[in-house]
Amino acid sequence: MESLKGRSLLALIDCTPEEIRFLLDLSHQVKKEQRQGLRQQRFLGRSLAMLFEKRSTRTRAAFETAFGEEGGHPVFLSSADIQLGAKETVEDTARVLGGMFDIIEFRGFRHETVEKLAAHAGVPVINGLTDRWHPTQALADLMTIEEHAGTPAGIRSVYIGDGRNNVSSSLLVAGAALGLDHHVICPQELSPSPDLLEVVARRSDYPGTVTVHHDPRAIPRDASVVYTDVWVSMGEEENSAERIDMLRPYQVTEELMGTAPKAIFMHCLPAVRGNEMTAGVIDGPTSRVWDQAENRKHTIKAVMLAGLGLA
Ligand code: CP
Ligand code: NVA
Repeated sequence: MESLKGRSLLALIDCTPEEIRFLLDLSHQVKKEQRQGLRQQRFLGRSLAMLFEKRSTRTRAAFETAFGEEGGHPVFLSSADIQLGAKETVEDTARVLGGMFDIIEFRGFRHETVEKLAAHAGVPVINGLTDRWHPTQALADLMTIEEHAGTPAGIRSVYIGDGRNNVSSSLLVAGAALGLDHHVICPQELSPSPDLLEVVARRSDYPGTVTVHHDPRAIPRDASVVYTDVWVSMGEEENSAERIDMLRPYQVTEELMGTAPKAIFMHCLPAVRGNEMTAGVIDGPTSRVWDQAENRKHTIKAVMLAGLGLA
């Protein structure tokens, strides 16, 4: 898609619904190709810098395998190894890496860092999670919803837990862009930012709706999706005891899932059994978390193909 060529992906709020639709269609296609055993070399001769200030299993593995298996050269650069933020400014690092790599992934603390990288690298920068957004996660979430719950337009989805974190915000935006009837259930203190809710409500190109509730029993009976995330995100460990107390009433239990009998359970992972959900839920019959994790790879491959102008 011409409009995505050479573009960074920092947050899905920067994309049109058509661009998100294109990335999802491409994700389904690359998954199908992989299932058919079709091996391609679309990244041959290209290089990917993978910058990580925080730990990762899925995001790192997804970028590295998606790029490497198609002939590309991914290079993992953790903040323990490189000068970024220690002896060198973000702008200088961006210029240097932009001169050597075709595309850059960044996972880190401050969203401003990925914005600076994108402004100075001269090559596409993909946000692999910051304190504000996790756009590639939301693409995998929507892909999984399409596989297991149906076309997003009109589907009722629930996110329950920390309503203002990166995963909640990204799902809220992607869902609104594709027409979900999305419900965020969270303590008042952990509500999505009013600014974000306003921006989403004002987007005339977003067919979906977002409703915020504070009663943990507010799950609509006909919900097709119940989604949660960790109660304490990376970098927020300082207040973890208080946060856990606040979120305890929002735990996803078998009983809670029983109030939405057709809902699938989703979680971006990593998960803490006994906190945001019981083991019976994540390991039970409604859970789709392993497909969701695999879809990280297909969606990330699609984002890189589009950003490099290869699709
Ligand atoms: N969901 C997700 O981003 O997982 P990782 O932290 O393992 O990358
Ligand atoms: N909200 C979580 C997501 C982890 C994939 C965090 O930022 O730690």
